[in-house]
Amino acid sequence: MAILNILHFPDPRLRNKAQVVKSFDDNLRKLAADMLETMYQAPGVGLASTQVNDLRRLVVIDVSESHDDPLCLVNPEILEKHGEHKMEEGCLSVPGVYEPVTRATDIKVRAQNLEGETIEFEADDLLAVCIQHELDHLDGKLFIDNLSNLKRQRIRKKLEKEERQAQPEPIGQAL
Ligand code: NI
Repeated sequence: MAILNILHFPDPRLRNKAQVVKSFDDNLRKLAADMLETMYQAPGVGLASTQVNDLRRLVVIDVSESHDDPLCLVNPEILEKHGEHKMEEGCLSVPGVYEPVTRATDIKVRAQNLEGETIEFEADDLLAVCIQHELDHLDGKLFIDNLSNLKRQRIRKKLEKEERQAQPEPIGQAL
């Protein structure tokens, strides 16, 4: 397994739309395993393929307290949405930023597992929020898109500054 590089806002690749997965092969299973390892290490409760610059429609999620209940959803779609509530969200691609987002409270989901079998289930609470957040990623959307332009610009400046400060100082003399 490997730790993958997580793209950070405003990287334009986060705006890419992921494509429907047709081959359920070892390569897909390796991507899922790598994404789970990357998510657990971050640490986070969800990660979408577009965040690691892969365009297969795959999200990995684990909202359990013990971090041992991974869920891999391939080609996921939301069939039904009910209710509405506001919850503070964060994102591994927008580090250090937490903002309230309004989402459906109960959802019905259809997806495929890593073997290509279709699964359907209902979700609420944090799992429902997480699935809606991750599915947005697959369509190139970020949770901060719901904020005002001004607020988003502030976040962009803050993250760009942090990114610059994280660059190592050049060593030695330029020739
Ligand atoms: Ni996210």
